[in-house]
Amino acid sequence: MVTGGASGIGRGVAEAFLATGDTVVVADISGEPVAREIGAEYVHVDIELPSSVYAAAARFGEVDVLVNSAGLAGGGGPLTELDTEVFDRCVSVNLRGTFLMTQAIGARMVRRGTGGAIVNISSIGARQPTPGLGHYEATKAAVDALTRSAAIELAPHRIRVNAVAPGPVRTPMTAGFAEDPAALAAWESRIPLGSIAEVHDVVPAVLFLASPGARHITGVSLAVDGGQLLT
Ligand SMILES: NC(=O)c1ccc[n+]([C@@H]2O[C@H](COP(=O)([O-])OP(=O)(O)OC[C@H]3O[C@@H](n4cnc5c(N)ncnc54)[C@H](O)[C@@H]3O)[C@@H](O)[C@H]2O)c1
Repeated sequence: MVTGGASGIGRGVAEAFLATGDTVVVADISGEPVAREIGAEYVHVDIELPSSVYAAAARFGEVDVLVNSAGLAGGGGPLTELDTEVFDRCVSVNLRGTFLMTQAIGARMVRRGTGGAIVNISSIGARQPTPGLGHYEATKAAVDALTRSAAIELAPHRIRVNAVAPGPVRTPMTAGFAEDPAALAAWESRIPLGSIAEVHDVVPAVLFLASPGARHITGVSLAVDGGQLLT
């Protein structure tokens, strides 16, 4: 099950699992045609709402792997000026939504007793600030903390919980700046490997952390950032 699987990183993850022959459920607030087009199941879910999350889990909840990719920035601006509604929405989707999905699907994994893997899509912003994104980065730091807490609580059930923390990735979420040459150059000047990521640069880390090859790895947030955290 991939939340946010109809777009960007989530879509890339969904397509990669499908390519290995897995059954994939795209759990998204929109994008049913995309799910059908790539050959996935679709379940409508608004991850902010417990009723919606629990309804989706009741329909498609028996999963081996949950990828929590749904997320947003919802706007930007200095913390001293940021609209409270932007802050609340970002916390609600990125933190509350990741928590609700982890709770609903994690509880089912525990009951089933066959283990599992959860991979959250965090951000290097959790560890390295960019002015104007403080609200978003705080939610991702919280996602990293949630990843560690869930990892230690679920370890006895052989459920591993990890995160992938990308730097900037070219997706619909970043289309605004990625199409502006000056903004793109400013972002890329911070990245030792020289360019922002494409979705296919991030997807393999998600698949690895979900795979048996990562059976001894839990509670990490793996940066996929072209070295940006080194700077
Ligand atoms: N693109 C980047 O540069 C970047 C960098 C670091 C981390 N991330 C994170 O990666 C994840 C995916 O981002 P993306 O760039 O692919 O974005 P995107 O906008 O392309 O896709 C986000 C998806 O989440 C879905 N979604 C949003 N709110 C939802 C809700 N309430 N319930 C269910 N689904 C909802 C959207 O419909 C969309 O399909 C996000 O968590 C984002 O914070 C992105």
